[in-house]
Amino acid sequence: MAAACRLQVRPDQQDLVAPVAWSLAEAYANPEMAWPRLVFDGDELVGFVMGCFDPDNPIAAYRCGFWRLNIAADRQGRGYGRFAVAAVLAEVRRRGESRATVTWVPGEHGPQEFYLKLGFRPTGEVLHGEIVAEIHLSEFQG
Ligand SMILES: CC(C)(COP(=O)(O)OP(=O)(O)OC[C@H]1O[C@@H](n2cnc3c(N)ncnc32)[C@H](O)[C@@H]1OP(=O)(O)O)[C@@H](O)C(=O)NCCC(=O)NCCS
Repeated sequence: MAAACRLQVRPDQQDLVAPVAWSLAEAYANPEMAWPRLVFDGDELVGFVMGCFDPDNPIAAYRCGFWRLNIAADRQGRGYGRFAVAAVLAEVRRRGESRATVTWVPGEHGPQEFYLKLGFRPTGEVLHGEIVAEIHLSEFQG
């Protein structure tokens, strides 16, 4: 747990995603909707991902999809982010859903190109300043 709380994205990415400790606190407070997972490569902790499953949420973008994704600064660009996305999509499938959503902060250092490459497509909505995008499981570039 201490290692998870120490996991850091790059300094220029820190305004894009909450710290892992913050996300773990949210998961503790919202166990029915949060799906938090640490990403390991062997014994090494390389990332954190949290799905969100809240089928009755009045906002469609928050019903089934991604809540957080943090890959350690010095472990980015090695496929761990794609692996984490695949893990959440497997859980989406397990729950009988066929579509997942994500929101991201637009901007130069943001994850937009990552998500577009994996097959996410913007819906045209913006929520709290973040771009809303969706993916159908069959479109995932895994
Ligand atoms: C975005 C993030 C999760 C990507 O994780 P990663 O482990 O570096 O991504 P991967 O190595 O799995 O990359 C998958 C593909 O996306 C591409 N990609 C990743 N980041 C990219 C970027 N910023 N620009 C262009 N392409 C990118 C990779 O080149 C790779 O392409 P390939 O299939 O041709 O090899 C990671 O950079 C991160 O933690 N960012 C900070 C936090 C953040 O923005 N989280 C998302 C919150 S919504």
